[in-house]
Amino acid sequence: MLLVIILVLLWLLFLILSFVFWEKLRNESTKNFLYLLNLLNLYNLRELSWDTILNNKWRYNLMNNKGYCFIKGDEMIKDIEYYANDFINYKPWYSRLGNDTNLNFRKRGYSRFAIEYNESRLIKLESKIFAIPSNENLLLKNKGRKFDEIEDDFIHHKLIHLLIWRLFDSLPINNNDRENNIWHVGLHAIRIISKYNEIEGLPTPEGIHQDGAQYVAIIFINKNNVNPTSAKNGIYNLNAIKGPSNQLTSSEHDYNNNECKLFECILSNTFDTILINDRMVTHDATPIIPNNINEIATRDMLIITFMHKQQDENTTYS
Ligand SMILES: [Fe+2]
Repeated sequence: MLLVIILVLLWLLFLILSFVFWEKLRNESTKNFLYLLNLLNLYNLRELSWDTILNNKWRYNLMNNKGYCFIKGDEMIKDIEYYANDFINYKPWYSRLGNDTNLNFRKRGYSRFAIEYNESRLIKLESKIFAIPSNENLLLKNKGRKFDEIEDDFIHHKLIHLLIWRLFDSLPINNNDRENNIWHVGLHAIRIISKYNEIEGLPTPEGIHQDGAQYVAIIFINKNNVNPTSAKNGIYNLNAIKGPSNQLTSSEHDYNNNECKLFECILSNTFDTILINDRMVTHDATPIIPNNINEIATRDMLIITFMHKQQDENTTYS
């Protein structure tokens, strides 16, 4: 009798262990096998992204109803960690960005793609003058801005392409729109620099604003010497009063913060992302304050915008 009980217990233990470990073991080996096939061009990793993201129906609903959602960094790169690590460890991309001639605390690169959805292709587009409609950015208005291209190794890194597809696949747009319209992607690599008493690092000198796009992914990449309570991202409804922070009265600040703010957070883990419907909400970020006031602070971001080709090409600038 005792032997039977022991055997049953062992069997139960085996079931529990196999349930816990076999699943993980099977997933890991499958993932590695897919990586190998992908490297040999026998399998398109994008199909893996599809499953991961489209199962998250809550995100689809959240974007439709509220106009924003937050995605944790490790969720953004789930199943594509190999490429994420390669991207992060590969090169000091951000220190090589060109200077933003409009703002001395910002280095910035800008590149564009078109999505050929039915062919599963991203087509690199020519660089162009960047502009946002006047009523969406009250500091720079619709001033045309010329930025350097982001370097080729960056924009053609497998991770960047996977992130674009992953985000595009998860946007709340219907299949007809996805398949029959050309969508343009804007890639903005931005480093904000802050130096105590010398350079005030403002992620959004324009204050609360919109980006002139349909959807925007605000992706955190890295920060150095940044005070952990600074650089807070805020999302607001469309009633928020736009404009540079120092041009608003205290009651306007109170109104924005108390009546219009929908969400705020400090992005801290690499690939933490706020995905917004740029037609439904406005956004900003608070200044970057150095932790050690004797050293420069930097914060690196990747902004990916999505808009219809017509919207991109019809934006005028002065
Ligand atoms: Fe923005």
